Amino acid sequence: MKRYTKRIRDNKLVFGIIGLILLTLILLIYDYNNTPDYYKLRLLDKQIDETIERNQTLFLVGNEYGKTAKSIVKTYDCGMWGTTKWKEDSRGGDNISPNGIVMFGSELSNMENPIIPRRIDSNKVLSVYIQLHSYSSDYARCDKHQDCMGLFQWSIGYKKSDTVQVLPYQGRKLLENIYNQATAFNYTTHLKMFKSINHQVCWISSSSSCGDDDDDDDRSSQPLSSSSSDSRTQFVKQLMEYIKVDSYGSCLNNVQMPKGGGKDEYNSHSIKLQVMSRYQFYLAFEKINCQEYLSEVVYHCLSAGVVPVIIASPDTHSRLPKGSYIDAEQFDSAIDLANHLKSVYQNQTLYQQYFNWRNDVYALRNWIDNAFPSTTYSRVACEIHRRYLETFRHRSINHPPEPFLQIKPSHCYDPYLKYLN
Ligand SMILES: *[C@@H]1O[C@H](CO)[C@@H](O)[C@H](O)[C@H]1NC(C)=O
Ligand SMILES: *[C@@H]1O[C@H](CO)[C@@H](O)[C@H](O)[C@H]1NC(C)=O
Ligand SMILES: *[C@@H]1O[C@H](CO)[C@@H](O)[C@H](O)[C@H]1NC(C)=O
Repeated sequence: MKRYTKRIRDNKLVFGIIGLILLTLILLIYDYNNTPDYYKLRLLDKQIDETIERNQTLFLVGNEYGKTAKSIVKTYDCGMWGTTKWKEDSRGGDNISPNGIVMFGSELSNMENPIIPRRIDSNKVLSVYIQLHSYSSDYARCDKHQDCMGLFQWSIGYKKSDTVQVLPYQGRKLLENIYNQATAFNYTTHLKMFKSINHQVCWISSSSSCGDDDDDDDRSSQPLSSSSSDSRTQFVKQLMEYIKVDSYGSCLNNVQMPKGGGKDEYNSHSIKLQVMSRYQFYLAFEKINCQEYLSEVVYHCLSAGVVPVIIASPDTHSRLPKGSYIDAEQFDSAIDLANHLKSVYQNQTLYQQYFNWRNDVYALRNWIDNAFPSTTYSRVACEIHRRYLETFRHRSINHPPEPFLQIKPSHCYDPYLKYLN
């Protein structure tokens, strides 16, 4: 009786297993027949697997401002992740299959350009968008259009939401300089030695749209408006009526830049910093406020020991040390701002409080490390490479890669309009 029961139990088990196998097979065949792109995907998987085995990726890089960004066309060694090659994109002439294509925002500034959609075939390669600058209206038009941004799967830029975040220009390097100076420098003495009551407010701008020059800073794109001067320049002009502003750039120029400080000159950067360091305040005004965008000029100020008076998207303020800057947008008019600046520089105790943040070396270290990822292209390239391998390693017919985040366009607004009416 016992043995009989056992046999029945055994049979049930065997049938159960066979049934399960049959069901799996049926489901697999069903799935197979319902995947018209099966072969295409298999082929793609094979290519991807081979790439991953070699731990190597190939990305084609577009042009920034009409030129190939030579500094990033390289083979990058990513340690345990293998290597990635970023090669110049020769517009489809090559007989190679890249893993991805990297395009600069500036390259896409002409929205009517029909080349864009043809070059990006997101079924075949990953498309990555680079937007390091927020050059107002002219150079970041793609960044403002959902249609354009929707073409990309990953992004490299200054926003927290970017796949790989970088700081514009040399932000981090300048901050490291501040950190290295922090213990060696005594700002109380420094201020006494270099600051002069005659050097109140400094501004250096050579924007193509400031309207009173034949400037060559233009990166050869059509300015959106051909009006005589942009709203930032008009606001600085207003400010000049109430406080002494020395303008060294071609916009509203009223002081001569020292020899060697011209825009394209070899040592111009350090001469610029020297000029700035003699002033009480520097007008670190963005041309337009774009979400999360802060240009390098604020870091120049902090590095040079001049108090930046900023106009920038409010979500960037937390990236600066507390008490290190004056937010111009807290004031309702140019005259209010000018009066505030005067009251600060006339009270040296108050003025020096803008340098207190430098004394806390630990806070400084924390701030630099947490707020600013490294900006090197090697880090960017390897990060994209690593993500690529991770994303596609787990790819299979039944487990497609995680959907890419929809890249959203930036919000921008003109912060000066409220002052100009
Ligand atoms: C590829 O990367 C893995 C780590 O993900 C590493 O263990 C392996 O050694 C690498 N292979 C080659 C050929 O570099
Ligand atoms: C800086 O120098 C001043 C005098 O020049 C001195 O009173 C002050 O204690 C110094 N500060 C530091 C942090 O060493
Ligand atoms: C200068 O500023 C300090 C700090 O804010 C303040 O305590 C002091 O009263 C001010 N002095 C004058 C003369 O306004």
